[in-house]
Amino acid sequence: MTLPNKDTQVPGWIIGAIILINMFLLIPPVLVAKARFSTSRSPRIHVFYDMDNQLKFKAQSANDLFRDGRAARLPVPGTVARGELNKDSHFHWGTVDGEWANSFPPQVDVNAALLARGEARYGIYCAPCHGISGHGDGMVARRTAVSDYGAWTVTDLSSEKGLAHPIGELFNIIGYGINTMPGYKSQIPVEDRWAIVAHVKAIQFSQSVDVAEIPANEQQRLEAMEKPAGSEESGSDPQQGSGTQPRQGR
Ligand code: HEC
Repeated sequence: MTLPNKDTQVPGWIIGAIILINMFLLIPPVLVAKARFSTSRSPRIHVFYDMDNQLKFKAQSANDLFRDGRAARLPVPGTVARGELNKDSHFHWGTVDGEWANSFPPQVDVNAALLARGEARYGIYCAPCHGISGHGDGMVARRTAVSDYGAWTVTDLSSEKGLAHPIGELFNIIGYGINTMPGYKSQIPVEDRWAIVAHVKAIQFSQSVDVAEIPANEQQRLEAMEKPAGSEESGSDPQQGSGTQPRQGR
């Protein structure tokens, strides 16, 4: 039996190093295993940032950097967005020389087409609360009147209160609201708001018109509506049509 030649043996330090390296190599898989089965509240380690984390301020968040404490900056006073100069106060705001206008702006042609447009838009945006005939009895008003939150009174557009608003103010109310009524500026373009004003004026007019001023054939149609076959009361609510009763053509 020959003893191994000391010169051909692997040196002890190399063996030590190999053992050590193998031990260190175990660390990453152990860490991965731990990461897979444990939970953590801190953000995960990002090797490549890409665009996941951007150094930016989020809108509506607080920020000490600015004196008013908010991250979002307000536009410089006097800033006007493109296409929103709205210099024509009559057309865009319903005012003439700082007072509510009593007329339609010159670029709005009050004709049958405008009234038809106004009637349709009114049906979409106003009737849910104010009702088809403007008495403040739309479905929303009826439902909220019996809601747990207490009565929410929607104005009768032909009431004294409703009639008190000049044309320009009516226009402004549609866009910017009044008291508990929200504004519809973002849903209804300016031209359509004027069309709705025309329809509201028509509704108001329809509530106080002298019967003699109505054309004879219309008078007959209205009389037929007033006295439906059957009971008296059912005729008083034009929104409730029955088979025998002529419905309002809306
Ligand atoms: C979400 C329900 C709702 C809708 C939709 C709505 N309104 Fe109103 N409106 C109200 C309420 C409620 C008031 C009463 C506000 C108050 O004085 O508290 C009101 C008041 C008004 C007034 C003022 C009358 C007054 O009280 O002096 C006018 C005019 C009016 N609405 C027109 C419109 C027109 C035109 C539309 C359609 C573009 C419209 N509203 C859509 C709920 C509504």
